[in-house]
Amino acid sequence: MSVSTTASNSINFPGSITERLQVQHLLEPTQKVSTIAGSDVIRGLTQTPKTLPFKYLYDDRGSELFEQICELPEYYPTRTETKILQKSSHEIAEITGTGELVELGSGSSTKTRILLDAYQDLGYTLHYLPIDVSAGILEISAKQLLLDYPSLEVRALVGTYERALSHLQPTKLPTRTIAFIGSSLGNMNPQECDRFFAKITDALQPGEYFLLGIDLQKPKDILEAAYDDSQGVTAAFNLNMLEHLNRRFEGNFDTNQFSHWAFYNEVEQRIEMHLKSAIAQTVELKSLNLQVDFTAQETIRTEISRKFDLDTIQQNLKAYGLIPQQVWTDENQWFGLILSRLF
Ligand code: AVJ
Repeated sequence: MSVSTTASNSINFPGSITERLQVQHLLEPTQKVSTIAGSDVIRGLTQTPKTLPFKYLYDDRGSELFEQICELPEYYPTRTETKILQKSSHEIAEITGTGELVELGSGSSTKTRILLDAYQDLGYTLHYLPIDVSAGILEISAKQLLLDYPSLEVRALVGTYERALSHLQPTKLPTRTIAFIGSSLGNMNPQECDRFFAKITDALQPGEYFLLGIDLQKPKDILEAAYDDSQGVTAAFNLNMLEHLNRRFEGNFDTNQFSHWAFYNEVEQRIEMHLKSAIAQTVELKSLNLQVDFTAQETIRTEISRKFDLDTIQQNLKAYGLIPQQVWTDENQWFGLILSRLF
């Protein structure tokens, strides 16, 4: 674990970039069974139906493809949430005030800049704590943020949400806001969602805030187009998981023998992304000592992306003492942003 020190800012002469930046690597406890490399892959591929953890979508290539997805005409979530943030950011900054902004899964922090601008416009001091598993993207974007926001202090945490959330000390600033935007909550099943909300409340003091961005239910054709775009970027993103596994675990998945399949499961109210085997085949992952048989047309579920109902999710938050203060949406009610306060 490496921790560098932060110098305090003087008002007229903001600290240099290195004085305003800390990067801390959080190590996963290695004794936990679930963190032994590849055990999650073995579990997923030996069960019926087959699944793989969505986190394997995000190697460097996968993160790049996801950035491309966000620009696609069919992929409305990023664009819609950006618009909502643009109209709500001043209100959010006003309600929360000077404090600490923790962001889970910050990535390139593109949308977060809208919030940072609002705090800066209102003259509020902000400490920004981006949390992401990708150290590279965190450091690059943190340095750029420090150049662009002369009074911002950044403490980047490299690690999973779970680890980072349990690692947070109470803030010395007047308040803390934990932001989880981009509808990444959609990747969690209801049980995981519950565990996650419990973690959020543990990381907050009464009176502190939780900002949540969620994708909402809408007609099936719009949803399915967003996850099966005409340029095939989402297909490439999904298939890249196999390349990632080949590299990481000495595998021999042939991406030509699998295809992208995404559909809206109306019962579960979620998009399911699968990889479908074209033929009966056996795939080997050498370093995991694993051989996996596929029948023709058998699928591996690689991701779920749940679509929420604004009222239901607010009830859910309330059950954890996270009381919605303000809710914003777009003109089509396609995406929602909820600012809750812990009571
Ligand atoms: C990053 C989880 C919000 O579910 O829309 C995009 C990931 N998968 N296209 C989503 C994703 C396929 C995305 N999230």
